[in-house]
Amino acid sequence: MCGIVGFTGTRQAAPVLLDGLKRLEYRGYDSAGIAVADGDRINIAKVKGFVQNLADMTHDGGDIGGAVGVGHTRWATHGAPNDVNAHPHMSSDGRFAVVHNGIIENYAPLRQELTKKGYVFLSDTDTEVVAALLETYYDGDAKRAVMKTAARLEGSYSLGVVCLDGTGRLFAMREQSPLILGLGVGENYFASDVAALVPHTKNVIYLDDGEFAELTPESITVYDVRGRAVEKPVSRVTWDVEAAEKGGYEHFMLKEIMEQPACFKATVEPRIRNGRVEFEDFHLTDEELGRIRRIVITACGSAGYAGQVGRYVIEELCRIPVSVELASELRYRNPIIDEHTLLIVVSQSGETADTIAALKECKSRGAKTLAIVNVVGSTIAKLADHVIYTWAGPEIAVATTKGYTTQVAVLDMLAVYLADRLGKIEREKYDRLVLALLDMPGKIQRAIDLNRNIKKLAKKASAHNQIYFIGRNMDYAVCMEGALKLKEISYIFAEAYAAGELKHGTIALLEQGSLVVTLACYEPLLEKTMSNIEEVKARGAQVLAVAQEGNRQILKKADDFILVPRTEELFTPIAQIVPLQLFAYYVAKERGCDIDKPKNLAKSVTVE
Ligand code: M6R
Repeated sequence: MCGIVGFTGTRQAAPVLLDGLKRLEYRGYDSAGIAVADGDRINIAKVKGFVQNLADMTHDGGDIGGAVGVGHTRWATHGAPNDVNAHPHMSSDGRFAVVHNGIIENYAPLRQELTKKGYVFLSDTDTEVVAALLETYYDGDAKRAVMKTAARLEGSYSLGVVCLDGTGRLFAMREQSPLILGLGVGENYFASDVAALVPHTKNVIYLDDGEFAELTPESITVYDVRGRAVEKPVSRVTWDVEAAEKGGYEHFMLKEIMEQPACFKATVEPRIRNGRVEFEDFHLTDEELGRIRRIVITACGSAGYAGQVGRYVIEELCRIPVSVELASELRYRNPIIDEHTLLIVVSQSGETADTIAALKECKSRGAKTLAIVNVVGSTIAKLADHVIYTWAGPEIAVATTKGYTTQVAVLDMLAVYLADRLGKIEREKYDRLVLALLDMPGKIQRAIDLNRNIKKLAKKASAHNQIYFIGRNMDYAVCMEGALKLKEISYIFAEAYAAGELKHGTIALLEQGSLVVTLACYEPLLEKTMSNIEEVKARGAQVLAVAQEGNRQILKKADDFILVPRTEELFTPIAQIVPLQLFAYYVAKERGCDIDKPKNLAKSVTVE
């Protein structure tokens, strides 16, 4: 969703801001803008559409002078996506320009109050009230105006403010929406995402809720709500700028699919020491463990589907009841959650609004909370009692791939770890599973190599308007993710069905030539899945089977097939999803879709 950048230094700010905005484009947006203080005025350029439009309009920023500024990519919430509603928004006295991520929930009464006092608003946005409040509270002290303004705001926000008081000062404020400060030499930065900072610096400070920062070229000072200076630790970003670039691939999605063997390894290997699974930040005492009666996994989208796989594996190994709940439902459901619940929240970004709300709700009911998160220092990582990071590196494509597989990796490891702690697994099986986890990067690579012909299958499939995915048990869990991947980037209607449910309604939809992707890797139920293949074929459907290498029975029956390598049964979903990601990718490519930035979607869904 929206992206924020800020820069203060001695060189021209506009090109730096534009570069930052380009690096945030992947988050999804509909307009872009920058504001730069230059002498006695703030120059603003903003436009509906791509950052490239803004770059063209300003000759790559060359037209805009000044060394202190803010930039923004907007994903419309309040007011249509147009030039006027695009950020930055300027106060009517021209002293402040503001960029904002999130939602100011009390903007309507504030707007009414300020209008009564004679303030004239130009846009339909909630953000403009912030510029108006800053103007109202300014008495010669910009820091005081920022504090007084923050005290009036309700909702979630990260705000970047450029102030024209001759000091080259920027302000950055955070409340439930990420904002990271970057420390340079003779220049400083902020951004809503580390991706915009890494070309300049790897030394960052993560702002916490309620904090705000004052930036000059030489210094960064962080304050709490009351304006008292706070000592903040400086963290080091562990990945390089190349990690957030395409590296020769046509799309980020393809690059990220191909990175999966390495990401899986980075997530798993350091946590296996002397053949034992160990987590650096997940320590449950025996007493805490003994208290757990059930596990609830909550998340949105693909992260929830990773949870679906995790449910099968944890239940199988630990014999603890596990339910997977959509965060957007759980948060409003008066859920039965107490101190006997281990809540696992799964999120690539760590900023998904519904997941954050569900986490808070369950925490307040006494659940022990564990987050599986990719983005270091994100809101979910900070809120949960424990965090296990997925070391996938930056994921840029809106459709998650390496984010998902590393989430499944952590859930698999967690299942093995908990089963051991609970005394539910024999040593021989434990050792076998640990070895299998270490072996998975090779299996993922094999799953890629086995399907070099997938473009042909994708071409054939791209003509369909709807594609059904069926499977049983863990195969069904993978169907959900396979179907989501396809629909979000190719815009083909794709839905996952538990194969046993077909007869209860969905089979009525099948007709001559329908395409049914059938996942047939879960061996205990293979005969049942075979029967489902017969059923759909009898209705004239084409079957594209996902089967393990050497499974002749399935290969004979299917019209086409995707092969996956044999793995330890519980870990098959990881090998299955990778060719399905490639399938979705090539179908979308065949249909000429904008693969990395599908329409209507944002990388990180920071509003409800
Ligand atoms: O950042 P999160 O993992 O919390 O995001 C959750 C979903 O929004 C995300 O998985 C979404 O479904 C992706 N577009 C799927 O590819």
